[in-house]
Parts: sequence; structure tokens; C-alpha cells
Amino acid sequence: MSYLLHIDSSSLGSGSVSRQVADSFRAEWQGPVVHRDLAASPVPHLTAAGVSARITAPARHTPEQAKAAAVQDELIDEFLGAGAYLFTVPMYNYSMPSVFKAWLDQVMVAGRTLDFVNGSQAAGRPAVVISARGGGYGPGAPHHGLDYVVPALETILGHAHTLGLDVTTVTPELTLAPHNPAMAPLIPLYEASLADAHEQARQLAVRIGGRIAA
Ligand SMILES: Cc1cc2nc3c(=O)[nH]c(=O)nc-3n(C[C@H](O)[C@H](O)[C@H](O)COP(=O)(O)O)c2cc1C
Repeated sequence: MSYLLHIDSSSLGSGSVSRQVADSFRAEWQGPVVHRDLAASPVPHLTAAGVSARITAPARHTPEQAKAAAVQDELIDEFLGAGAYLFTVPMYNYSMPSVFKAWLDQVMVAGRTLDFVNGSQAAGRPAVVISARGGGYGPGAPHHGLDYVVPALETILGHAHTLGLDVTTVTPELTLAPHNPAMAPLIPLYEASLADAHEQARQLAVRIGGRIAA
């Protein structure tokens, strides 16, 4: 039976809002799970040996290429073995945590996870991205249009020319409101966003779980 691949990337451990919302998803998820915590155990950055190993026959790999290829193989096998995905990817500097980008760079490999002619073998699989952010990025907010996490991940994970996953995003916003006195008037909006995110996560787990089981 295929599993849910749950990947965390917030540095904050149990204090992470993204992880707490993922806990709500997991509380409703019935099937097997493979969990990878990129903050606790970061994957290596992609190196020249890793890139060149992709276009070199394994029998001709240098020791550096063989080592780099083994890292990619483990992550890619884990990715392709999953039937659904849960990613927690908070906003860091308007973008994604570098540990998550490092994981993507190891996993996005033409001929393995990517197929520019026929589409990825993972295409259509459901994926939930939970991305907490300290500010607000919705329509009308001063920072609207400055979210470079969700649009990037919708392309990288969801576009038909990339992994083609069926991506749903959950974005608890204004998480800094309880910690920043200047944002105190925004606390009710933060609380509503958080409650909504937990509810969305629970509903997604039920819906996706049912879809996988069917
Ligand atoms: C290194 C770092 C960079 C951050 N950059 C931003 C940012 O650019 N915009 C923003 O709204 N919040 C920013 N924040 C706040 C986080 O998005 C916020 O604390 C969020 O809740 C983090 O997700 P987590 O709770 O799942 O760890 C940053 C936090 C950290 C630690």
C-alpha cells in the first residue's frame, strides 16, 4: 500500500505553526506515513558530482558521483513510493526554507521524477502544502503579491511540465501578531486564519484519504 510522504521544513520544531496545522491533518489521516524532518536531518545541497551523475552511466561514476547519486536515489525512491504528500513549508524571507529547496533540488530529476514528454509518473497525486507566514499576503494586504513560496511551489510541484501533483495550499497568516506589539490589532484575524487552517487540514486529510483508499 502506498503511503503519505510527510515532509517538514520549519526550523521551529513543535513551536512551528505549519507543523501544528500538519498535526491536525495527521490526526485525521488513517493510512501509513513516511515522515522526513528536513530541519532535524537536512539533505545535502546538490553538488557538481550530483548533477553530472545524472548524465553519467552508473558504471562510470566516480566515488563522488556514486555518493551523490545514492543520496538522490534514496530521496527519489521515497518520493515516488508515496501516494500522497504533506509538505510544511513556512515563509522565510518571502521564500521557502533553504532545507526544502535543497530537498527539491535533489528530487527533481529528468528521467526519474520529471518527464517532459509524457508527464511525471507522480502526476495527479494529491499534495497539501501548509505554509505559515508571519505577515498577511491576501488581497488588500500591504504585502499582497510578495508571497514567493506558494506560487513557486504551485509551479515546482504542480505544473504539468514538472511533477504535476494535485496541489492544495493552506496558509495560516499573521502568525507574528501575538508576538509583535505593533501587530496586536491583527490578532483576531490571525486567530481566524489559524482556526480556518486547522479545519482545512482536517477536511483535506479526510477527502484525500478517501480518494487514496477508493
Ligand atoms: C528566517 C525567518 C524568515 C522569515 N521571513 C518572513 C517573511 O519574509 N515574511 C513573513 O511574513 N514572515 C517571515 N517570517 C515569520 C514566519 O513566516 C512565521 O514565524 C511563520 O509562523 C513560520 O512558520 P512556522 O511557524 O511553521 O515555523 C520569518 C521567520 C523566520 C524564522
